[in-house]
Amino acid sequence: MDKGNFEKRITEAFSRKLTAVRVVVFDEVDSTNTEAKKYVDFLDSETDIFLIAKSQSAGRGRLGRTFLSKDGGLYMSYLSRPCLPIQDAIKLTSFAATALCETVFEFTGIMPKIKWVNDCFIDDKKLAGILTEGEFDESGVGFRYAVVGIGINIANVDFEEISNIATSIEAEIGASPDIAEFSAALAEKLIAFKTADSNEYMKKYEQLSMLLGRRIKITTPVGAYFATAKKIESNGSLTVITDSGDTVNLISGDVSIKLN
Ligand code: BTN
Repeated sequence: MDKGNFEKRITEAFSRKLTAVRVVVFDEVDSTNTEAKKYVDFLDSETDIFLIAKSQSAGRGRLGRTFLSKDGGLYMSYLSRPCLPIQDAIKLTSFAATALCETVFEFTGIMPKIKWVNDCFIDDKKLAGILTEGEFDESGVGFRYAVVGIGINIANVDFEEISNIATSIEAEIGASPDIAEFSAALAEKLIAFKTADSNEYMKKYEQLSMLLGRRIKITTPVGAYFATAKKIESNGSLTVITDSGDTVNLISGDVSIKLN
């Protein structure tokens, strides 16, 4: 799909499904999350902004990692000013992960699972990741903006050195949904965040967790330890029981299902 065609198809799919959103489409950009920050002054209470790229030259993941962003994936940032206290920021990521899994299910019949806090997996291989960033407003209790960046492998199958841990929709079912239709359907779900009931979506988020009951490795800036994942709390935090029997509640962190 060439650039003009890509942009046209995305714009058409969005205009069929959504009003009061703006969509900006790139053939290639460094990172849609980085680019989104240039659009913050265009946000108002009615209009959210989506930025979508066919590929990224400097895709970013959590914890300063690189996110491989070749043609065939969907690289999308959702920029909004959510009415949410800063301490609930994790819920935006939880909501987006749930919306992403549901969109994949609608288009493929496969429901991915979520690895707390931000990754979608199929059979222990990573399908998608989410990077949420934001800034406080002047009061320090709400957001000036939040950007939810979603990268999902759709038609791409060449994962180079991460082929043993990454997958795509194409690799799973041998066919790929139309990226324009998929992105518009996902955007439609994401904008529902403003009116969504947090108890309801946090319940779904917990049901989609791939961690509960499993032994996991938790890496912190000062070292790593092993634990069994027990519960996703209604505030989005993860409760684990460490191998030494302590109950720990995590509000952020790096969790791995690979134990070595
Ligand atoms: C992760 O796996 O840790 C999160 C990956 C998030 C990737 C998406 S792609 C769209 C947006 N732009 C970026 O640079 N990152 C996010």
